[in-house]
Amino acid sequence: NNYMDIQALAEANKKDIWEIETKNLLVQEDHLLGNGAFANVYKGIVKGKIPLLVVNNSLNMTVESENNGHFEAAVKKLPAHADEQNHLDFFHEIEFMKRLGHHPHVISMLGCVSSPFEPLIVVEYCSRGDLLKFLRRHKDYVLLNKTDDCPVEADMCLRIKDLVSIAWQVADGMSYLASKNFIHRDLAARNILLTKSLTAKISDFGLCRYMDSALYTAKGGRLPIKWMSIEALKLYEFSSKSDVWSFGVLLFEIFSMGDVPYPTVQQMDMLDHLLSGGRLPQPIKCPNEIFNIMRKCWEEKPEDRPEFNEMRGEITVMLNLDD
Ligand code: ADE
Repeated sequence: NNYMDIQALAEANKKDIWEIETKNLLVQEDHLLGNGAFANVYKGIVKGKIPLLVVNNSLNMTVESENNGHFEAAVKKLPAHADEQNHLDFFHEIEFMKRLGHHPHVISMLGCVSSPFEPLIVVEYCSRGDLLKFLRRHKDYVLLNKTDDCPVEADMCLRIKDLVSIAWQVADGMSYLASKNFIHRDLAARNILLTKSLTAKISDFGLCRYMDSALYTAKGGRLPIKWMSIEALKLYEFSSKSDVWSFGVLLFEIFSMGDVPYPTVQQMDMLDHLLSGGRLPQPIKCPNEIFNIMRKCWEEKPEDRPEFNEMRGEITVMLNLDD
């Protein structure tokens, strides 16, 4: 019937728009950005038309890593031993990334290769890598006073305002995801990527989720226990409000410059710890306004926690204050 034909055509068309010809894609197999049980991510270069820019041409978008019609990219690939289920998950992820749309604080797919044998997902390249390692690298270079001079190269040093800005950008990206009814479930510093200009991008829609398996519990679930809300730990209930809880833990990571949360609590004791009122402390460099937001993220009842757009508004106020 006609309707089906049109739908099939529309689907095929959409696919064409996102498809990158392999002759226009160079995957640098010797430049691994991350690897895990279900995917490897390599540095890559895309030449010619970038599907993302074609799809969004009305937005007059630019990609930061453009250079003479060559775009730096990160290319996600299935490992050699991937089974049929891994392939299916990978194709679902491609469809998900197409639907995600573009937002400056959410990682964008530049395009894909949907070959049944070697499918590829091509995303924006973020040259400063993940936020957790970035924070740990810069731990000794946070300037507390406006007048402090940076004792090393200028771009090693960070100010509290830079940290607040990263927090704002993540709240902004999460407001967008929540507005599309998308639940992230693994919001953590390891899943935020940073560009050259310190733009923060929420990642992990499968891309980073598989990359650091040591951080997940071994008990089958692969769950990020120390980022999980009480209801997620107790009942496996995930919602935007459980993402808000994780955002509170991410704020702790940012302002402690990458400390491990609850270092003395075993994963299996986390639920009891939280139920008896245990929460993360205020990091030394954390402004009171941010700590107040963190505490609200960890309210036991999900409905008592703030929305992402409320938190974005509160952080906006902080960024606009003259320090
Ligand atoms: N590691 C994983 N994804 C990446 C990306 N998009 N850019 C840089 N490093 C990454």
